[in-house]
Amino acid sequence: MARQPKILVLNGPNLNMLGQRQPEIYGRATLADIEAMCRTHGEALGFDIDFRQSNIEGELVTWIQQARGEHDGIAINAAAYTHTSVALLDALTLVDIPVIEVHLSNVFARDKFRHHSYISPVAAGVICGFGPNSYILALDALRSILGEA
Ligand code: DQA
Repeated sequence: MARQPKILVLNGPNLNMLGQRQPEIYGRATLADIEAMCRTHGEALGFDIDFRQSNIEGELVTWIQQARGEHDGIAINAAAYTHTSVALLDALTLVDIPVIEVHLSNVFARDKFRHHSYISPVAAGVICGFGPNSYILALDALRSILGEA
């Protein structure tokens, strides 16, 4: 049987606090709840899900570098680093696999500084504003980009 596509789902700073963090914006689901949703949906799509979170920019950079030759696609919620990180842009530029940018909230309906993303130019697409479902939609997008199982 052919190897299942391996998808790296990356989460940036403060997303480990989901559930407690500004629930009026981010909802009540914890990151563990979102991971469980991704695993269930990933299984249905025939994906092997590698779900990670870090508060450390360099750790995210290292994981993106290591995705070369290891993973088939990336769904990334870079959180605040979306709006600040040239390092994440450079790392994502050098991986030659499809990248989907994900946000729980509709960043365009929020502070002006959240309207700019350093990583959108290298993303195949951006999904924001659907809460935890943004992750599910990102996995669906990767499934369609990678071709049906
Ligand atoms: C976020 C939006 C970012 O602006 C913010 O810094 C986050 C979370 C989201 O998922 O809506 O930490 O990426």
